[in-house]
Amino acid sequence: MTTIFLPDTKATQQLGINFGKNLTAGSVILLEGDLGAGKTTLVQGIGQGLGITESIVSPTFTLINEYTEGRIPLYHLDLYRLEPQEVTGLNLESYWEGIEVTPGIIAIEWAERMPYLPDSYLKVCLIHAENGTRQAEITAVNCELSILNIYI
Ligand SMILES: Nc1ncnc2c1ncn2[C@@H]1O[C@H](COP(=O)(O)OP(=O)(O)OP(=O)(O)O)[C@@H](O)[C@H]1O
Ligand SMILES: [Mg+2]
Repeated sequence: MTTIFLPDTKATQQLGINFGKNLTAGSVILLEGDLGAGKTTLVQGIGQGLGITESIVSPTFTLINEYTEGRIPLYHLDLYRLEPQEVTGLNLESYWEGIEVTPGIIAIEWAERMPYLPDSYLKVCLIHAENGTRQAEITAVNCELSILNIYI
């Protein structure tokens, strides 16, 4: 696990930009962390890094927002309102397996709600730290963090 200090909103966005510029199609980012920890902010950075100009808003009610304007598609999900059983019904694997979906980056807020996980993913836990700052704890499972210049 790698820990990154995020002193302000811009730092969270910058981490996302790094992801958006470097990750390959099929990458899954599982975002965990309390309410207001910075998950959507990070995804907004990913959108910027991909070259998406449309504004990225939280899909709390829509469940999934798709952006196809950038280098590769961005699929932004928010599972906050769902029970694990309901998540199963979404067939999320069609996103990371690229079945009937153009492969892209899949960013999932409230990934704690997932009853099953892909074989490879980046897990980013955003944590409230002192004086209103944040910390990101990043774990790469069966994938490389080094392309992001983030070394374990
Ligand atoms: N590193 C940081 N330091 C201080 N504030 C930050 C940092 N990163 C993001 N924020 C701020 O935290 C607030 C909440 O961010 P955001 O909406 O991205 O959180 P979230 O985890 O998506 O929340 P939710 O759980 O409601 O989906 C925003 O005002 C954002 O600007
Ligand atoms: Mg959010």
